[in-house]
Amino acid sequence: MNKPKISVIGLGFVGLTLAVVNAKENFETIGIDIDKEKIEKLRSGKPYFYEPKLKNYLNKSLKTKKIHFSDDLNQVLKTDISFITVGTPSTANGAIDLSYLKKVVVNLSKILKNKKSTHLIVVKSTVLPTTTLQMVSPVFKKIKNVRVVSNPEFLREGNAINDLEKPHLIVIGESNRKDGDTLEKYYKMFYKKIPEILRVDLTSAEMIKYTNNAFLATKISFINSIANICQKLPNVDVNKIAYAIGKDSRIGSEFLKAGPGFGGSCLPKDISALIEFTKKYDKTNKLFKAVKEVNIYQASQILQIIKEMNLFASNKTISILGLAFKANSDDVREAVSIRIVKHLIKKGMKIKVHDPMAMNNFQKIFGDKIIYCKTIPDCLKNSECCLILTEWNEYKNLKPLIFSKNMHKSNIIDARRILEPSDFSKLNFRAIGLGPQSVN
Ligand code: UGA
Repeated sequence: MNKPKISVIGLGFVGLTLAVVNAKENFETIGIDIDKEKIEKLRSGKPYFYEPKLKNYLNKSLKTKKIHFSDDLNQVLKTDISFITVGTPSTANGAIDLSYLKKVVVNLSKILKNKKSTHLIVVKSTVLPTTTLQMVSPVFKKIKNVRVVSNPEFLREGNAINDLEKPHLIVIGESNRKDGDTLEKYYKMFYKKIPEILRVDLTSAEMIKYTNNAFLATKISFINSIANICQKLPNVDVNKIAYAIGKDSRIGSEFLKAGPGFGGSCLPKDISALIEFTKKYDKTNKLFKAVKEVNIYQASQILQIIKEMNLFASNKTISILGLAFKANSDDVREAVSIRIVKHLIKKGMKIKVHDPMAMNNFQKIFGDKIIYCKTIPDCLKNSECCLILTEWNEYKNLKPLIFSKNMHKSNIIDARRILEPSDFSKLNFRAIGLGPQSVN
């Protein structure tokens, strides 16, 4: 059986990853996006964001000519399956903005109206339950050869290609068996060793995606709430508490890393959308609001530590190591670093920053209001406080000497819990979720 031809509409981190991995697996693939500049960059082998392995895969697929990029949606006519991966951002009140999706769907219906062969539309963008059923499917109802399925993704930025190549589960949402069969057949060609596939209705598939992200966000806000108690208790360290409870298989050890709170383009957006969505059905649902509030509060915990160290003053210099919302990414969307830096600027402090990948994106927000440093020692030089905000490997191996040698005063705040507190006992070391260490 011939491999289906693939189009991917919306080349954000999910769409572009999906497109290049399809091409690498020898599927003829067309990546489509309205942004001409993005398309030009991709044609010349340059992804416009950092994601491990992405550039390499992209260039290999350009060489084999398995991948093409276009800003013309009509190109879908050359393909059999279209994955929709356009963004579904937040509106001002936190609700989901479906305008990109709506536009693509309406345009697709015009383009596919007279297509002779079967065309499968796969909704991969994160959309609230009932969106595909009530908004996408009806648009194609009268078009004979077009079928619609839902197929949420669970890719993590910084690990997206690995997650795509080895998913823990594939969820297919369908309104009839035949539509889901077409997608399942494609996945059987895509994977040498086929992962578990769960077939459900359209709305359950969408609910699975939100439940997944809401649970991950809840785990983080939960451990951060525990961290804030630990911080007050002599000799108690949240890392040990998280390790211990993670051993209980009913809890599990992942997503229990206390820190500055969750950021990025997904968890904050999805939890806000879920809160708005839930209002329709259950006015008493308080959990997700609490998860969001705890997350916002977590940034102020870091500021509180700076205050307790008497470091808030307009003449003081602070160094920030890590700007990206997490390691292995240059993404600063909803990164806690933004909120912290805004606050420190208001306080009139001199701010020096370092990040292995995210400096350009940060500079687009803060311009010349802060100082960008190419090396870690540069960033630490003459500073009175060092704040670690992203868990980059480069920071995990830092030894006390680099701080004491370069800083004016060695005040260190580890907001990511990547340094071993006992190594830093001779410096003024504070960390999220770490109680006072002196009393025994
Ligand atoms: C998240 C989900 O993990 C993916 O499964 C999902 O597909 C994706 O959203 C999406 O909806 O598209 P991502 O936003 O890339 O992925 O990042 P995560 O790894 O979930 O991290 C989110 C934030 O939580 C980061 O700021 C991270 O530093 C923080 N985090 C994560 C913690 O503070 N503690 C942890 O234990 C784990």
